[in-house]
Amino acid sequence: MAVTIKTPEEIEKMRVAGRLAAEVLDMITPQVEAGITTGELDQICHDYMVNVQDAVPAPLNYRGFPRSICTSVNHQVCHGIPGDKQLKKSDIVNIDITVIKDGYHGDTSRMFAIGDISQLARRVTRVAYDCMWIGIELVKPGSHLGDIGHAIQTYAESNNCSVVREYCGHGIGKVFHEDPQVLHYGKAGTGMVLEPGMTFTIEPMVNIGKRHTKLLGDQWTVVTKDRSLSAQWEHTILVTDDGYEVLTLSPTEAGRQPPPDWK
Ligand code: MF3
Ligand code: CO
Ligand code: CO
Repeated sequence: MAVTIKTPEEIEKMRVAGRLAAEVLDMITPQVEAGITTGELDQICHDYMVNVQDAVPAPLNYRGFPRSICTSVNHQVCHGIPGDKQLKKSDIVNIDITVIKDGYHGDTSRMFAIGDISQLARRVTRVAYDCMWIGIELVKPGSHLGDIGHAIQTYAESNNCSVVREYCGHGIGKVFHEDPQVLHYGKAGTGMVLEPGMTFTIEPMVNIGKRHTKLLGDQWTVVTKDRSLSAQWEHTILVTDDGYEVLTLSPTEAGRQPPPDWK
């Protein structure tokens, strides 16, 4: 599959889809508290996307995924299936939202802390956030994809964390997962050269322990092999004529702005 260059009309639709995905995260934020189940979070997000946004939750039935959002708690790396699990104090959870609006996808995820979290949990969450932004800030025409992966890997490893290799960012548009693959590790100066009009996600998964992962028996939930904590953030990015535009920023988000208590 070739990399698609989006037209101005397509870019406008990607902006709308991206904003809607961010707004689902804004909407759910006050509800992400001790006692709620991941299944309840899924139901609230599903109803909001379908009834308020008139949008389609992309994960639902995607390759057989049974729910409308992904919720990945603690040592779960990604693709956690919402269910009966109640969130409790000291948990960290990633909520990953992908909406389809007018045929185009917006894909974004954030970490949430339940009550006070451990210093390790704060660290892996903060390192993953910084990794995402270090990658985003390298996006411009002429950059190589390998520049992004290299910078993310270097930063994570210099902070005593590891980067998951089995899952990566991806081109996105009319199709949920399209070319290119955006690896969160690699070698500078290698890989595809970026051009204006490309749209892709940057979504590093960072572990406090070793990088290796395991797929659970449900065939979706990815966990760290050593059961160490894992964190992930994701934005959908457009390559512009002179840099990047983050398509999944919410009106409440000024840009790179880590929650201060995660320092
Ligand atoms: N939103 C995820 C991503 O960032 C993909 C989830 S696929 C699903 O690419 F089927 F698990 F929903
Ligand atoms: Co994605
Ligand atoms: Co996602």
